[in-house]
Formats: sequence, structure tokens, C-alpha cells
Amino acid sequence: MTELPRIPLAGVIGHPIAHSRSPLLHGHWLARYGIKGHYIPMDVSAADLPQALAMLPKLGFVGVNVTIPHKEAVLKLADVVTDRAALIGAANTLIFRADGKIHADNTDGVGFMANLRQLAAHWQAATGPAALFGAGGAARAVIAALIEAGIPEIRIANRTRLRTEVLKRDFGGRLVIYDWSHAGDMLAGAALVINATSLGMTGKPDLRLPLDQLEAGAVATDLVYTPLMTPFLTEAQSRGAHIVDGLGMLLHQGAPGFERWFGQRPQVDDATRSAVLGQ
Ligand code: ATR
Repeated sequence: MTELPRIPLAGVIGHPIAHSRSPLLHGHWLARYGIKGHYIPMDVSAADLPQALAMLPKLGFVGVNVTIPHKEAVLKLADVVTDRAALIGAANTLIFRADGKIHADNTDGVGFMANLRQLAAHWQAATGPAALFGAGGAARAVIAALIEAGIPEIRIANRTRLRTEVLKRDFGGRLVIYDWSHAGDMLAGAALVINATSLGMTGKPDLRLPLDQLEAGAVATDLVYTPLMTPFLTEAQSRGAHIVDGLGMLLHQGAPGFERWFGQRPQVDDATRSAVLGQ
């Protein structure tokens, strides 16, 4: 009997998982490129994570995305960790290699940069300092990508100052720490302003910082994408900034995994945005 080719499976593991937009994104790309494959959301508890990672390749999975709360834990379970995932301290993309090894990467930073390149093409990392609000996992990915892109200075402020000090220890001299109470001062002369806190997300308080020092013509971007137009972006736009919403980062961070798993480099464009927004 001739063996039928195996249909590649991929998915996303997290806990909870129902909110994830990744199935819409990868489902859209699979349909668009006519690829016989499936992308499945899987609710995996922390206790079950090692067993799940051991079993998934045997079931036909070629890899998975990883979301909260497993992004750090998978690093210890992977056989090969990319430099950028190690530096960020978290992985969002796993590749189950044919030789049985688990390869862990973090594509959040490349997603962030690709989104800016697409929607703020005139901005260049070397143009001037960036101002960053927040010091969580998302901020780490942004810092790693900006440093790799050659940014001269990253000003950073976070409610919990200790976390910015840890970042400075890990990423070095280009980080300049500001106190959260003076975060607005970071904006003077900044070419790029980034909200990497969860403030502004539906159900959370707004990011209430004085934006009067924001330069007209600066690029302002928010990692929050629910809603697409956060109060921060609305105000930045009214002050003459060029705004970039956070949805594109989500779309672009998914592209490297899709390409590795299914062998097709996917496009990120208006059709992709609409599919993920459920329009
Ligand atoms: P992620 O991995 O998405 O970055 P996180 O590690 O929980 O998530 O980080 C969330 C970020 O939002 C942090 O910078 C957090 O500030 P703290 O380090 O002080 O917790 C910030 N954040 C969340 N709620 C906040 C609030 N009410 N005021 C100010 N900052 C807040």
C-alpha cells in the first residue's frame, strides 16, 4: 500500500487559550495558500507541558506557537534555543525537527520590527532615541530587536523600577532609566515611542502619561491591539505623531513559524488584518 503524505499539524499552546487570535491568522494563511495542514489551539496546563511537548511531534505536529504562561518554561524543555530567545528569556515559536529535537525561537522582536518597517517605512533605528513604557516580557523582545537594529538609546520607564534595572543589567549601556513619575520626560527628542505595558487594553486602565513633550512626526506604537486605537495612540495622533497599531506585530511574529512549518512565506497585508479581526 502506498503511504499517504502526512498532513502537517501546528498550533498554539497556552492556558487559557480561547482568546488567542493565532488560529485565525494561520487558518487564513493555510486557506490562502491552499496548504493541506491544520493549526489548532490547545489548552495545556503547566503540569502537562513536558508531556505535551513529548507527544505532539509523534502525533504529526511540526511545531507550535507558545503563549502565556509557557513562554519561559519551554526554554528549559527545548534542545536548541536561538540566541535571541535566550536573550529575551522566552520563546513563542517551537519547531519540532525531523531528528526529534525541539528548536525554540522568539519572533516577537522581528514581528515588532517588521510591523514598523511596513507601517512607518520612513523611520530608521539610527534616527534617534526610543522611549519605552513597560518592562515585562514584551518590552524585553522590543529592546532586543531595537538594539540589534542599531538604536542609539532606549529610554525606559516602568511602574516597578526594579524591572528596568534588571533590563539595564541584561541589555547594557544603551538603556537609560527614567522614573515612572517622570516618564513623560522621555519623549523630548524621541523618534519612536512604544507602549509595552498592558495599559489601554480593554478592561484595563488607560496609560495616563503626559504626552506634551511628544515630538510631532515621531512614530508612536502600542503593543496593545484590543482595541486597535488605544487612548495612547489617539492622543499621540492628535499631537502629530505617526501612529502604528499593535495588530501588525501579532501578524508578523507568526510569519516565521508558518514558513518553517508549512514551507510558504506568508504575506501580511490588509486581507490578513481583516481575517484576524474577523471581518
Ligand atoms: P508582558 O509579557 O505582556 O509584557 P507583563 O510581564 O505582565 O506582560 O508586563 C506588563 C507590563 O505592564 C509591565 O511593565 C507592568 O508594570 P509592572 O512591571 O510595574 O507590573 C505594566 N503594567 C500593568 N498594569 C499596570 C498599571 N496599572 N500601571 C502601570 N503599569 C502597569
